[in-house]
Amino acid sequence: MRNESPTPSTDQEEDDFLCGILEGLRSCPKTIPPKYFYDAYGSRLFDLICCTPEYYPTRTETAILERHGAEMAEMIGSSCMLIELGSGSATKTPFILQHLAQAAVYAPIDICEPHLLNSTQRLQALFPQLDMQPLCADYHQLPSHVFKHHAGLRKVVFFPGSTIGNCTPDEAVQLLKRIAALVGSSGGLLIGVDAKKSPDVLNAAYNDTAGHTAAFNLNLLTRMQTELGAELDANQFAHHAYYNETHGRIEMHLVSRCKQSIRLDSESFEFDEGETIHTENSYKYSAQEFQQLARTAGWHLQSTWHDENELFNVHYLSQSVAEPLKLAR
Ligand code: AVI
Repeated sequence: MRNESPTPSTDQEEDDFLCGILEGLRSCPKTIPPKYFYDAYGSRLFDLICCTPEYYPTRTETAILERHGAEMAEMIGSSCMLIELGSGSATKTPFILQHLAQAAVYAPIDICEPHLLNSTQRLQALFPQLDMQPLCADYHQLPSHVFKHHAGLRKVVFFPGSTIGNCTPDEAVQLLKRIAALVGSSGGLLIGVDAKKSPDVLNAAYNDTAGHTAAFNLNLLTRMQTELGAELDANQFAHHAYYNETHGRIEMHLVSRCKQSIRLDSESFEFDEGETIHTENSYKYSAQEFQQLARTAGWHLQSTWHDENELFNVHYLSQSVAEPLKLAR
């Protein structure tokens, strides 16, 4: 059950949420964009997911950053602006920041303001010298000139968590191109990407026994009720997540348990029993597949690190070819 009041949202956020939901429910098959998972409650649920025994990506990526953070920081270089996309609780960032000799500015960007402010405060206490410039925004909609007042600083984007996997491959290429425009010709990108692996491991990761992933998925319906006044019965929907091997992605859905309707903003959306709202894709890429995707978007691979079981990869990419190329390990 929801144990806190919903985050007060601005009229603009509420309009965006309403438009996004209406557009998704009008489409066939019905969808809801995954960015709406992350209200204050959803962000806390996501933190709980990250700590479950089944959800291996967080602890695996953290271990890679802990082990190779110094090497990564060396590639990033000193006196730069580190921009973190979808920073959330920013638990992995210290493993990079602690090795960055003189990171001039750290700019975390997240859609959830309470989460952003809490994590910025925590990091500021750990790194008191660092100039912190948090930005509450949807990073998919960032104009490329957003950091133009830092023109003299080399910019590197830190994008951990395999969040790129929540885009389709085409969207991922577009996002990688927008990141390139954001950092400019001297910039870099340190990005975490979940790898393809046994469907059993993947299915378990998105169906944790504690039920946090189910609650995270179903919270979309609660948000629609409390924030948009939607008329629906959340108990008549079930969480469903499975690995679609053909597409190389986890799919998350909300499955209608019966024939029913959702009323929203004087529209009625009809559901057959078993019909779903597709709420998320989480694409998995081999190291080579992702490196190819990054090349398509104009990036140059500098290095790839992975854990010993090759569950997860962290890549460092640069805009210039001048840096020495290290082969993927
Ligand atoms: C944020 N993103 C990378 C997570 C993922 O694994 O796709 C979101 C998530 N959805 C369910 N569990 C975690």
